[in-house]
Amino acid sequence: MATILVTGGCGFIGSNFIREVLATDADTDIINFDALTYAGNLANLADLANHPRYRFVRGDITDRDVVLKALKNDVRAVINFAAESHVDRSIIDSGPFIKTNVVGTQILLDCARQTKVPRFVQVSTDEVYGSLGETGLFSESTPLAPNSPYSAAKASADMLVRAYVHTFGMDAVITRCSNNYGPYQFPEKLIPLFITNIMRDQQVPVYGDGMQIRDWIHVRDHARGVEMAWRKGKGGEVYNFGGRCEMANIHLTKKLLELLGKTESLIKFVQDRPGHDRRYAIDCSKAEAELGWQPTVTFEEGLRETIAWYQANQEWVNQVRSGEYLKYYDLQYANRLAD
Ligand code: NAD
Ligand code: DAU
Repeated sequence: MATILVTGGCGFIGSNFIREVLATDADTDIINFDALTYAGNLANLADLANHPRYRFVRGDITDRDVVLKALKNDVRAVINFAAESHVDRSIIDSGPFIKTNVVGTQILLDCARQTKVPRFVQVSTDEVYGSLGETGLFSESTPLAPNSPYSAAKASADMLVRAYVHTFGMDAVITRCSNNYGPYQFPEKLIPLFITNIMRDQQVPVYGDGMQIRDWIHVRDHARGVEMAWRKGKGGEVYNFGGRCEMANIHLTKKLLELLGKTESLIKFVQDRPGHDRRYAIDCSKAEAELGWQPTVTFEEGLRETIAWYQANQEWVNQVRSGEYLKYYDLQYANRLAD
């Protein structure tokens, strides 16, 4: 039996990853290490809380002592999902992004090195590559050119991982994925915000001209990619994941309205995001060739399933939108981290 430490496992992608590994691999124990910021929700894994191969530890990746204590469990791999993840929040206040995404990654790397953890997986993002023009794709060798405080912090973490591989011979891989969607995504991001607004007949705020393009991937495909990078990835390498599904925000918005049976009168064009990246699109041929990975969920099927999930989980939505979910733990602590 091997134990892995998953950080940020109460968030959107981390919880989907834990769900996937527990369901498919009977030989892996998981410690979910999460600080429970505003984005971490114990309800995301409530049905698995008593699973025999799962344990939750509340801890902050910037707290060296707690990280070291968690790593004392003969951990075979660290999978680092923990991060401040929302671009708009990073524009309002970049402080927590530097603390968690940069300093937190550095502390995790140091502690993993000290306790001789055999493998480290850094879950990064395609946003570190910056913005594309009308043509071309991000490959693993595209130079890093982050444009937001969020992506700058993620790129800094990637550089630290690279340096720990080079200087200390650490066995670490980096994954860079495009925009995820699916169940349990916090309704501050485009797809869950728009679905839950439309469900309530509320307007949806489209930034600028709405012609910014994102490459959408279902969270299960990303989770499988991270799992394959952990198991099969070559130390020191970077693997891109994407859905081969480019779509302009305004087209996506109209699609959501259509699927939810509402009219375009709910669209509200609002002021653009400062420094807004125009286009992301991923070349994932390296992951396909070297890991045997491929995106499997079509956008049409994934979007319908995601809408159905939000419709069927109104209580989750209501608790998140009202802040009620914070009652699961110490409200004061969560607020302090979210501030
Ligand atoms: P999320 O915001 O939903 O979840 C982040 C989780 O990290 C939360 O559970 C939160 O409590 C936890 N956390 C935050 N700060 C922490 C700290 N200091 N110590 C311990 N835990 C902490 O994020 P997500 O969308 O699930 O993204 C997960 C990772 O994947 C991030 O690293 C993000 O950069 C990356 N990523 C996200 C996407 C996307 O489309 N959402 C795409 C590519 C990469
Ligand atoms: O590309 C991967 C990244 O995708 C991840 O690294 C980030 O963690 C994740 O948040 C996401 O970043 P984006 O900024 O692309 O996602 P977001 O859902 O915030 O926005 C998607 C697009 O929609 C973007 O062009 C901005 C636009 N948008 C977003 C919101 C929240 C709107 O037009 N209106 C909105 O209200």
